[in-house]
Amino acid sequence: MIDTNIIKLLKNSRRVAVLTGAGISAESGVPTFRGADGLWKNYRPEELASPIAFRNNPDMVWEWYSWRKNLIKNCAPNPGHYALAKMEKLFEKFTLITQNVDGIHRQAGSDNILELHGNINRNFCCECRKEYPDNDLVLGSKVNRCSCGGLIRPAVVWFGENLPEEVLEKAFSAVVDCDLFISIGTSSVVYPAALMPLKAKEEGAALIEINMEPTPLTPESDFFLKGACGVILPNLMEDVHNA
Ligand code: OAD
Repeated sequence: MIDTNIIKLLKNSRRVAVLTGAGISAESGVPTFRGADGLWKNYRPEELASPIAFRNNPDMVWEWYSWRKNLIKNCAPNPGHYALAKMEKLFEKFTLITQNVDGIHRQAGSDNILELHGNINRNFCCECRKEYPDNDLVLGSKVNRCSCGGLIRPAVVWFGENLPEEVLEKAFSAVVDCDLFISIGTSSVVYPAALMPLKAKEEGAALIEINMEPTPLTPESDFFLKGACGVILPNLMEDVHNA
């Protein structure tokens, strides 16, 4: 049973911004970045997801992304993703900002999605920027090369790189314009995404956080719902529906 004040808040909100992180896809089988699941062959994500790592060892970075790509191809949306797709229809304005690169929100039927960190299903040449779908590439332990000779990399944002400007602008405009901000399944440590709930609050929005564990954002949140988002989000939607 969800706190009735949260249900009232949802009922009374008109413009909602949601930020999701790896936690929402955990129940679909996509490993999160931090915590016990986050390590791959003893490397931390920060050591793999960077332009320097790719320059120094493109084969290893490509192998990690090939592993993630193959894993994600076999994952389907979970009840948390579907609940958010339904939630979109409840409000005058609803913006789903995601740090996830897995594309699962779209599969679940969400529409107004801003992918802050790109999409793992796309790739491009580092030299000539030509785009390549996964089907044209070999996923495995050897990096692919473009017809121009350049290395082909996944179209995700790496540590030390700028986020896509237009996406970031749209995200911040939703953040400052919302009356309710919901942060879901993110450790709230990677910037600029981690700034978004704080900025929304500063601009007067109410703040709900959903996570298995408290995060640096928890003390700032008006409501903290502790638990799995694949359970909490469908419950939230059901209570809103029945209220
Ligand atoms: P993290 O792996 O840092 O955090 C996942 C969060 O989800 C943690 O706070 C968990 O407690 C929580 N969590 C796990 N399972 C959950 C569940 N079933 N229900 C609710 N919460 C759950 O992932 P992000 O915060 O998304 O960036 O990481 C942010 C960025 O750092 C990623 O986008 C990626 C990474 O390095 C880039 O690759 C640029």
